Amino acid sequence: MSNPNAAQAPVTVIGLGLMGQALAAAFLKNGHPTTVWNRSSTKAGELVANGAVLAPSVKDAVETSPLVVICVSDYDAVHELLDPLEGSLAGRTLINMTSASSSQARGMSKWAVEREVAAYIDSAIMAIPPAIATDEAMLLYCGPKSAFAEHEQTLKAIAPAATMYLGEDPGLASLYDVSLLTIMWGIENSFLQGVALLGTAGVKATEYLPMANSLIAMTTDFISAYAAQIDAGDWPAEDSTIATHVDAMDHLLDESKELGINTELPELIKAFGRRAIAAGHGNASYAAMVEVFRKPSA
Ligand SMILES: NC(=O)c1ccc[n+]([C@@H]2O[C@H](COP(=O)([O-])OP(=O)(O)OC[C@H]3O[C@@H](n4cnc5c(N)ncnc54)[C@H](OP(=O)(O)O)[C@@H]3O)[C@@H](O)[C@H]2O)c1
Repeated sequence: MSNPNAAQAPVTVIGLGLMGQALAAAFLKNGHPTTVWNRSSTKAGELVANGAVLAPSVKDAVETSPLVVICVSDYDAVHELLDPLEGSLAGRTLINMTSASSSQARGMSKWAVEREVAAYIDSAIMAIPPAIATDEAMLLYCGPKSAFAEHEQTLKAIAPAATMYLGEDPGLASLYDVSLLTIMWGIENSFLQGVALLGTAGVKATEYLPMANSLIAMTTDFISAYAAQIDAGDWPAEDSTIATHVDAMDHLLDESKELGINTELPELIKAFGRRAIAAGHGNASYAAMVEVFRKPSA
């Protein structure tokens, strides 16, 4: 059930780096009494000017609000700050927005049980600080469903359009985080390979951009079909076979070699194709390539 008094719910934000400042500003803007703490207290200046209360210690900050958000560089910093607090977190909801691996997040969830934290929610921020509190922001949450529901309205201050609950497993937000970032880097690296190839013919990146964007849009259709095939465990080649793809991968590699640009990405793409063919998937759709990704590297 969502909290009917969410508009007035007090929040503590620990960590006022680029992201923490944006988070605290979002809560403040939505009318939440906001307590903040940061190792370097000068970073609280603008927030305090806008109504936030700067706590004199982490302990005071934690003990001020039933909902505590922490967003610092890494889990070493989280432990450095929270480990000495003993019982201060008991009965509170702790939302950890610090990036980490899924095993670290699951470990933190166990740590929270030992500290009698009422609910530990792990979160991944799929946004840059200027996007916080806008419809561009996507925030992922996992942990106890009832605690998420209780604070959902408050959390919408950060990501009004995409405050997303993934499930009870405290490792899910971190796993989604890297699974989404791999798409971002995959597209960006491929775009840059294309820029380098076309640059040898004097084509500017901005001239390539409209067609690159069309291909990205087309690819979203391809992966929609592949997702259904992967979940069904059956990958008939309805568009083209992996063998056909591998022939085209040769062109990418050969061009890159001949033009004297970097060949690492084309070699990697080709290696995936070769391994899928060796595994007997030459006549399957590209979706079958998932079998290569599901196994450890050769
Ligand atoms: N920025 C982004 O675009 C973005 C996007 C998604 C997720 N994130 C995640 O958000 C988290 C914070 O990122 P950020 O961009 O805010 O980083 P940042 O600007 O470098 O801020 C780091 C924060 O961690 C604090 N900190 C580091 N070590 C500490 C320690 N040992 N004890 C106490 N405080 C410590 C810093 O305190 P001081 O100010 O005193 O140094 C500061 O508040 C990271 O896990 C990051 O992966 C960031």
